[in-house]
Amino acid sequence: MAKTNKTTTEFVCSECGATSPRWLGRCPSCGKFNTMVEEIVKPAEPQKAARPSVYGGRAKKLSEISYEHYDRTSSGISEFDNVLGGGIVKGSLVLIGGDPGIGKSTLLTQIAAYLSQNKKVLYFSAEESCSQVKLRAQRLQLKSEELLIINETCIDGLEAELDGVEYCIIDSVQAVYTDDLSSSAGSVGQVRECATKLMRIAKSRGITFFIVGHVTKEGALAGPKVLEHIMDTVLYFEGENQENFRILRAVKNRFGNVQEVGVFEMTGEGIKPVTDYSGVFLSESRGEEAGSVVTPAQTGARCMNVEIQTLICKTSFGQPRRMPLGVDYNKLVLLLAVLEKRCGLALSSSDVYVNAMGGIRLNEPSCDLAVCAALASAYFAKPVDKYVAVFGEVGLTGEVRAVSYCEKRVAECVKMGFKKVLVPAKNMKSVAKYADKIAIVPILYVNTMIKNLFKD
Ligand SMILES: Nc1ncnc2c1ncn2[C@@H]1O[C@H](COP(=O)(O)OP(=O)(O)OP(=O)(O)O)[C@@H](O)[C@H]1O
Ligand SMILES: [Mg+2]
Repeated sequence: MAKTNKTTTEFVCSECGATSPRWLGRCPSCGKFNTMVEEIVKPAEPQKAARPSVYGGRAKKLSEISYEHYDRTSSGISEFDNVLGGGIVKGSLVLIGGDPGIGKSTLLTQIAAYLSQNKKVLYFSAEESCSQVKLRAQRLQLKSEELLIINETCIDGLEAELDGVEYCIIDSVQAVYTDDLSSSAGSVGQVRECATKLMRIAKSRGITFFIVGHVTKEGALAGPKVLEHIMDTVLYFEGENQENFRILRAVKNRFGNVQEVGVFEMTGEGIKPVTDYSGVFLSESRGEEAGSVVTPAQTGARCMNVEIQTLICKTSFGQPRRMPLGVDYNKLVLLLAVLEKRCGLALSSSDVYVNAMGGIRLNEPSCDLAVCAALASAYFAKPVDKYVAVFGEVGLTGEVRAVSYCEKRVAECVKMGFKKVLVPAKNMKSVAKYADKIAIVPILYVNTMIKNLFKD
């Protein structure tokens, strides 16, 4: 498929940079397997006249640089705008990764249809035929008469189609190819080359691209890491297929906070944003069984109450199992050690399972105390009242450290009708004003929390 011009390709080892004219399973230079990636070799440009100063006069003082105003447009879905940091930035590249069938195409069809009402939008469908996309738009009852669609896999002709187009959706980057490389679509070299081409178009013509990316079995975006480097924003669309809730998480955002998450519900009429989280991250039966505790978690700009559930059972093998979902593994191991050593809970010969409800990932330290509380509840087989919330960072000495956004967290508990909240003692001052609305218990050590919740 190589073109007739002088452009040829070679295989370059992504580890050591060694080159070879043919593909090799093992790099002859560094000995690593599967690292040879096809790359385009451009003919060497004729030597230019000597350049005394390459950047002469182009460097500017920071004070001379004017602020660039980012134009933001709404996507029509408020949760999606939030995750992007307040709307779609003109000329940006947004990558949306997710498991098969999670709803990437559905979400982007909805956004494309909304944007096409005022702007020219092109849907470059490499995976589905035009009629499939039309069928979906019809099923979702979208106003999409003006939406342009192409069913194509080669992106070399894309640039010619982009006259007047402001938004372009590529579904998906693993299904498109460029004729410059002979490797098949989806290969590391193709994905990288296609993404680079799209970036060049986006930056030179100010067109915004939404690019669908597939994820590997391990859950990472398929293709080279450079794909994520090129993008301005990388979003992951996650959720259990059998449950209707989906979470959109930013893992990289040049124009906003990466802590932001968007919560959606997959319905017959498409993907709908969820604004009332109480049903998503809290179970109906919380407070009835031991091992569950609620914590107000700060994700990006908002605070939401999330239930942490734990299960402790006797180890049937020599090595006890620790299985956290939504909580960091190393953090769980550390908290178990604190509970064992500082609070005397014998957990070293038990399997421990922890789950943050609704598939959310809690990676801030403020959920430490709630994990400890849930574990202690499971250990003592004593349920924690459903209207009690807990938060605080736990140190290795068993002390409870202050956390950020304390006021916001307590305010969220008040809003949700909670009756008692256990807060780090060092945060007490900032939340004293809520004392007439909710019982606030200052906690200095993990032991104090255990005493307060289980030994009264
Ligand atoms: N007729 C239908 N009625 C209701 N829901 C449907 C219907 N058809 C598909 N769906 C929902 O849409 C989901 C598929 O959405 P979509 O095609 O957007 O996923 P995707 O992430 O683009 O998948 P892929 O990776 O295969 O491209 C299905 O999992 C299903 O829940
Ligand atoms: Mg799809």
